[in-house]
Amino acid sequence: MSENIEHCVIIGGSSGIGLATAKRLVSPTMKVTITGRNEEKLKGAWKSLGGTVGKAAFDAAKPEEARHFFDSLGPFDHLVLAASGGKGLGPFATLDLADIGGGVDEKVRPQLACLQAALPTLNRSGSVTFISAVSAQIAAPGIAGIGAINGMLLTVAPILAVELKPLRINVVAPGIIDTPWWDFLPDEQRQAVFAEYAGKTPVGRIGRAEDVADAIAFLVANGFMTGQVLTCDGGLRFAA
Ligand SMILES: NC(=O)c1ccc[n+]([C@@H]2O[C@H](COP(=O)([O-])OP(=O)(O)OC[C@H]3O[C@@H](n4cnc5c(N)ncnc54)[C@H](OP(=O)(O)O)[C@@H]3O)[C@@H](O)[C@H]2O)c1
Repeated sequence: MSENIEHCVIIGGSSGIGLATAKRLVSPTMKVTITGRNEEKLKGAWKSLGGTVGKAAFDAAKPEEARHFFDSLGPFDHLVLAASGGKGLGPFATLDLADIGGGVDEKVRPQLACLQAALPTLNRSGSVTFISAVSAQIAAPGIAGIGAINGMLLTVAPILAVELKPLRINVVAPGIIDTPWWDFLPDEQRQAVFAEYAGKTPVGRIGRAEDVADAIAFLVANGFMTGQVLTCDGGLRFAA
């Protein structure tokens, strides 16, 4: 990029936290490119951003698709990894163990595949932000599977911060955030879950995608932050 304009790629930028991060970051000094698998959804997100960002549809879990995307993109400065997965929830005694592998395939693999594919063109003075979850940091019944999956990202970030230095590598661990991630629940049930968590959360509400976008923007901008986990959960970690 030119001296004063940086470029941030957001994998999983067509919805929720990734989309809010695109809105938060795009500016005359920050170019943004958003990705997702579903072209229609991506186009809707792109339109909601006034067509001010780049966009690319591909499956981040497929290393060859990720490689093709980064090869055609060229040099860039920041990578936000917001690709999602929802497997691994439920009581351990009846947890389908295949869901642990499935959750890794849906969430950990796309984030790692994209970082690996991005390395040849990612500015070493830039940053990488993984999105994990507070489920990897709290001891609450029913989250052993999803916590284990998210825990992988908490573990790799500081290791990679040292291995890939001076590239800065951090993780954001969101709490309960009102995004389409929760659309698997019928509306009434989802609202009941949100109300229950709002009651448990010290700040008295669940999170908005914009709350997490602010945390990500901080890690992207602060050149002295690396290998860190930034928990953005309204204090749920200490109260669940
Ligand atoms: N919402 C919460 O309460 C919460 C809590 C803790 C952690 N998180 C984490 O925060 C991150 C963002 O989630 P969100 O809540 O913003 O969910 P979301 O609204 O469902 O957004 C997920 C985004 O990832 C994209 N995506 C998923 N798999 C992909 C793949 N293989 N390749 C490319 N793009 C992919 C989706 O687009 P396509 O479907 O079109 O691919 C979408 O843009 C996730 O890692 C999630 O696990 C969320």
